[in-house]
Amino acid sequence: MSTSQNEGTQGTATISLGGKTAEFPVLSGTLGQDVVDIRKLPAELGVFTFDPGYGETASCNSKITFIDGDKGVLLHRGYPIAQLAEHASYEEVIYLLLNGELPDQAESDKFTHTLRNHTLLHEQIRNFFNGFRRDAHPMAILCGTVGALSAFYPDAGDIAVKAHRDLAAMRLIAKIPTIAAWAYKYTQGEAFIYPRNDLNYAENFLSMMFARVSEPYKISPVLARAMNRILILHADHEQNASTSTVRLAGSTGANPFACIAAGIAALWGPAHGGANEAVLKMLAQIGSKENIPDFISKVKDKNSGVKLMGFGHRVYKNFDPRAKIMQQTCHEVLEELGIKDDPLLDLAIELEKIAINDDYFVQRKLYPNVDFYSGIILKAMGIPTSMFTVLFAVARTTGWVSQWKEMIEEPGQRISRPRQLYTGAPKRDFVPVDKR
Ligand code: ACO
Repeated sequence: MSTSQNEGTQGTATISLGGKTAEFPVLSGTLGQDVVDIRKLPAELGVFTFDPGYGETASCNSKITFIDGDKGVLLHRGYPIAQLAEHASYEEVIYLLLNGELPDQAESDKFTHTLRNHTLLHEQIRNFFNGFRRDAHPMAILCGTVGALSAFYPDAGDIAVKAHRDLAAMRLIAKIPTIAAWAYKYTQGEAFIYPRNDLNYAENFLSMMFARVSEPYKISPVLARAMNRILILHADHEQNASTSTVRLAGSTGANPFACIAAGIAALWGPAHGGANEAVLKMLAQIGSKENIPDFISKVKDKNSGVKLMGFGHRVYKNFDPRAKIMQQTCHEVLEELGIKDDPLLDLAIELEKIAINDDYFVQRKLYPNVDFYSGIILKAMGIPTSMFTVLFAVARTTGWVSQWKEMIEEPGQRISRPRQLYTGAPKRDFVPVDKR
């Protein structure tokens, strides 16, 4: 068996099938569940495993993020998310996710300087925006424009060269806030605001979103702090749908800009990053507290197709630790912005109370996820609903890029190619149209 460095072998699992018995190594990581290495299963026993949605499959080795969904634990490179959200700058978290360690002061200064040097877009990229309708969803603009970066940086296509990979990583992380903010400005018919390299990542994003060329823009420290925290809370989340998409696309050797565009596409769905937008739509649809019981009955009715958006998670079967921090940030932001009685927040809190105590949700271990609160904070900060998922994509680019780099740098990396259980028609002969 070939194993990579951090794997330890903890005995074997024995599988018997059709009179044959084979042993498979059980591998241990530093934390979390052991995994059975079934790579030799088809050769030994002539079968594949069946795991639709890959919920029970470890698809890779990773040193970046650890989640214990039952205990509500989230660590980045070993550091608890709450400590990072409380004490770190987003730039430090980018450095940590990319490089494995927190930077010292000199490393931090050098890294920040390089990152800020890459915030500008090629002037030709401005032309891309004009090709979109003014009412285009900013996620569509983001996905298209990030994919188009591949045409501007063909050198990034040579991913075998480390210097090219590092440069592509910096470009993606530095440029995505500019593209995101310009997507918003375009839909508003407003002039683009260029990045300011005297500002930090969170401040610069706010400036490009809200400054106008006609007047000075004062960045609120409250909003900048909240933005820094929101970016950190969304920076990475292990092998979720969009990250797995980036890894799958990247496993073919595709250009990194195209891979991140694939991740953006996957994030857009309402079951994933689109949920924070969906939470606000749901709250608006519920309208007032009196309508909550009716809404909850619809959610419980399987035929209604209605879900409680912002609740539930594939991995967390306990409180999402990011949701706890978001909930606290939400109150701080509303208080500091002087928003005393926000009807949406009141509705959200009431909904949360009812859902947390309701048997349907308790039995299924459905807790509020990070998106339940992020939508409310973002709305209070003046971020339009259509930009919620875009902001998530900006933050998650750090995770996507870190995971992409880790995958490419893994010894023996090969193309991802899941198998299937075929349930279609058996082999049959073609029938001419007049005989069908
Ligand atoms: N509302 C009502 N019922 C739900 C919800 C929900 N939000 N989520 C899950 N359930 C029910 C399922 O119908 C299922 O019921 P059953 O056992 O009677 O059939 C049970 O809970 C188990 O759910 P699964 O389908 O196994 O959950 P899964 O892991 O496949 O889905 C998901 C997770 C997609 C996040 C789901 O909970 C959901 O759609 N939530 C709402 C959307 C959302 O908030 N997404 C954001 C996720 S976090 C993120 O991407 C940052």
